[in-house]
Amino acid sequence: MSNRVFIFDTTLRDGEQSPGCSMTVSEKLQMARKLIDLNVDLLEAGFPIASEGDFEAVDRISREFPEARVAALARACPLDIERAARSLEKARRPRIHTFIATSDIHLKYKLKKTRQQVLDEAVAAVRLARQYADDVEFSAEDGARTDGDYMEEVARAVVDAGASTVNIPDTVGYSTPDEYAELIGRIVRAIGERAIVSVHCHDDLGLAVANSLAAVQAGARQIECTINGIGERAGNCSLEEVVMAIKVRKDRLPFETGIATEHLYSASQLLASLITFGPQPNKAIVGANAFAHEAGIHQDGYLKDKSTYEIIDPRSVGVPEGKLVLGKHSGRHALNKRCEDLGYQLTREELNVVYERFTAAADRKKGLTDHEIAALVDDTLAQRSAAAD
Ligand code: KIV
Ligand code: ZN
Repeated sequence: MSNRVFIFDTTLRDGEQSPGCSMTVSEKLQMARKLIDLNVDLLEAGFPIASEGDFEAVDRISREFPEARVAALARACPLDIERAARSLEKARRPRIHTFIATSDIHLKYKLKKTRQQVLDEAVAAVRLARQYADDVEFSAEDGARTDGDYMEEVARAVVDAGASTVNIPDTVGYSTPDEYAELIGRIVRAIGERAIVSVHCHDDLGLAVANSLAAVQAGARQIECTINGIGERAGNCSLEEVVMAIKVRKDRLPFETGIATEHLYSASQLLASLITFGPQPNKAIVGANAFAHEAGIHQDGYLKDKSTYEIIDPRSVGVPEGKLVLGKHSGRHALNKRCEDLGYQLTREELNVVYERFTAAADRKKGLTDHEIAALVDDTLAQRSAAAD
C-alpha cells in the first residue's frame, strides 16, 4: 500500500458552513488560490444545492483553477447530484461527493428509513453521480457510530456501484483513536485496493487530529480537514496540525502528503482575515504563541540551542522567525540578545539598569515589543550620558 496520504480540504464547505465563517464568492476564490499554493490534493468548494452562492463558488473555482481537483457536495438524491454536476461542468477534474447517514440513530430519528432503504439510496446515488463524473466519493454520515457489519456492507456496495473513495466520518467527534482505527482497518480490509478509504473527523472531544492519524495508520489514505480547524461545532481536523504531525514525526508516521508547508501560516492568516475569528493564540503551528518562548529558563535554553524548546523550524510553516516574547519572566540573557538584535552593544552596567527598568515595565504589561525595548534602551543611555556630563 502506498504511503501517500491525500489531503482533501473542506475549509470552503464544512468550514464555511459554520457560525462566523461564511465567505462571499470572491473571498472563497481568494482562499481557493491559497489552497492551491498549499498544494492540497482536493478542494471541496461548496454544497451547490444549499445556496446560489455555493453553486457559484463551485462554478467559479472550477473555471478559474482548471488544474485543481474540485469537489462539490450532494445528498444522496437526484436533485442534489444533478445540481452538483452542473456546478462542476467547467472543472477538468471534478469530484461529486455524495452522502447519506448510516448510523441507527440517524436512520431512526432523522431519516426514518430502514438500513436496506439507505443502502439502496447510497448505491443509486453513486450510480447516478458516475454518469456525470469519473471521480465519485461516498460519505457515510455518522459512520463512526454505524454498526460495523452494516458499514462494511455499505462500503462494499458503493464501491461496486463505482465510488473510488469511501469516507467514514466521525460526524459528531465521538470516537477515540483505538476505536476509530479498528473500524477504519475493517473497512480497508473489506474493500482492499478497489477504493481509497477517507476520514473526516470532527473535534468535539479534541480528538480530530489523533483520530485521523490513527485512521491513517490503519490504512486510510485521505484526510478531510480545514485550515485553522474550522467547521461544524468544535470544528474539523486541523489541516496544519495533521500535516505537520506527519512531517515532523516521520519516524512514527511514515507517510507523505503533498502539502507545501511553507504556505501554512499565510493560509491561516488569510482565512482569519476573511472570517470573523482567527486561531486562538496557543493554537499549534499557526497560533500567535506557537513559536514564542517567554519563561526565562526556556529563553535561555532556546538561545543556547533552538532544539531545546523548538521541534519545528518556524520558517518551515512560513512564520518568518522564532518570536521571543519578552515579558516579566524573561531573563537578562534574553534581554541582552534582543538588544543586540536591535543593534545595541550594552556594557554589563548598562544592561543591569536596562534590565531593572525592563522588569518594572514588563510587570505592568503583557510583554514588551521591540519598539518599546528600543525606546527603553535609548532613554536609559540618554539618562546615563546626561548624568555623566
Ligand atoms: O461531518 C460529516 O459527516 C460531513 C459529511 C457530509 C462528509 O461533513
Ligand atoms: Zn463534517
